[in-house]
Amino acid sequence: MRRKLAAGNWKMNGDAALLAELGTLAEHQNANGPQIIICPPAPLLSRAHEITKDSPVDIGGQDCHAATSGAHTGDVAASMIADTGATSVIVGHSERRGDHGETNAEIRAKAQAAWAANLTAIICIGESEAERTGPDTLDVIAAQLDASVPDGATGENTVIAYEPIWAIGTGRVPTLDQIIETHDMIRTKLTDRFGKTGNAFRILYGGSVKPTNAAEIFTAENVDGALVGGASLKAADFQPIIDALDAS
Ligand code: PGA
Repeated sequence: MRRKLAAGNWKMNGDAALLAELGTLAEHQNANGPQIIICPPAPLLSRAHEITKDSPVDIGGQDCHAATSGAHTGDVAASMIADTGATSVIVGHSERRGDHGETNAEIRAKAQAAWAANLTAIICIGESEAERTGPDTLDVIAAQLDASVPDGATGENTVIAYEPIWAIGTGRVPTLDQIIETHDMIRTKLTDRFGKTGNAFRILYGGSVKPTNAAEIFTAENVDGALVGGASLKAADFQPIIDALDAS
């Protein structure tokens, strides 16, 4: 049995008011529900952990450097994220790939750095709009999965987030059939590569998940939860998504 997971990616948003929202969210969770991970910007990780530490809500980072320390101004090492009390980190989000030119090889190295710091790596993959309308969509996503996930990945140390770039922040989502087809393909690739352990990986869908579409998306067998951006910024939006996941 894979534990369902609702992860919130605050991106470059967050202040005292949003931390207060987090407090509200944390108060309302029950320990038997889906796992919940909130990923605030790095400067808020410690405060977010302080607010949630006695609740079932876990905290994660949004990115880490592949190196353990050194001359990398502005970057954050995985061990620093772990030191705040966070237990996971997103790597390879399409905004990192796009804004910072991150390659699959770098993302693999970041995932390994996350593991070395005892963090779960939430590895993001997903196609562009041109790739979705092209003939080889599933091959493109499969190649990205292969190249972004290091050997040694397990269902404990890694979560896969499938996020079509064209669906992020746009209000557009793939059809349920497209989501099912893509998640089934990812599951098959994971079991082909890792054997039975491939069944233990959580595969999240991300991209414009809202209270209005979450329940339908969660009907897909290989959708184990969601990575949510915009709708994770308000407890009133994120809670119905968590509830839909719990009920699925
Ligand atoms: P969105 O972002 O829910 O705002 O589309 C998802 C993500 O980028 O993780």
